[in-house]
Amino acid sequence: MMHQQYNFQFEVYSSIYDLNNADNELLQKAIEATNHAYAPYSNFFVGAAARLKDGTIVTGANQENASFPVGICAERVLLSSVSSQHTSTIIEAIAVSYDNRNGESNKPITPCGLCRQTLFEYEQRQQQPIRLILGGMEGEVYVIEKASLLLPLSFTKEDLE
Ligand code: THU
Repeated sequence: MMHQQYNFQFEVYSSIYDLNNADNELLQKAIEATNHAYAPYSNFFVGAAARLKDGTIVTGANQENASFPVGICAERVLLSSVSSQHTSTIIEAIAVSYDNRNGESNKPITPCGLCRQTLFEYEQRQQQPIRLILGGMEGEVYVIEKASLLLPLSFTKEDLE
């Protein structure tokens, strides 16, 4: 028997104002994108914004449904949109923000399990890291240098070979 360990480092900024210009702009776009969420059931409005290699910014927002499991998170709306409208483009970074209209929105949220698996797939597909910038409407911001760090021991296409 042996022990294996997994740990990773990420950056914590006290506010959006401490980010570099590119990250600051992207998080601002994610904050704006919360206005495009359709979240009448949870009242939790999530916005996501991707910066592509050519500088284009694409946004997405969560889309809920009366049949709850049908709803899609902002991150996966965004990734599907980038993949279908900008096929083969590299995603450099994704910012995520949220507006919790039932409570506070002052600390970062991290992607759910389904979104981590989806982010992993796109990162592997493009063979370049996707930087994550995670914040609320205010407060601390997390910067994670590559999305796959959030999914250790992941199931990947190699497992299917
Ligand atoms: N949601 C996202 O869009 N992204 C996340 O990272 C966490 C959760 C959505 C799903 C659902 O519409 C609402 O937030 C509450 O879970």
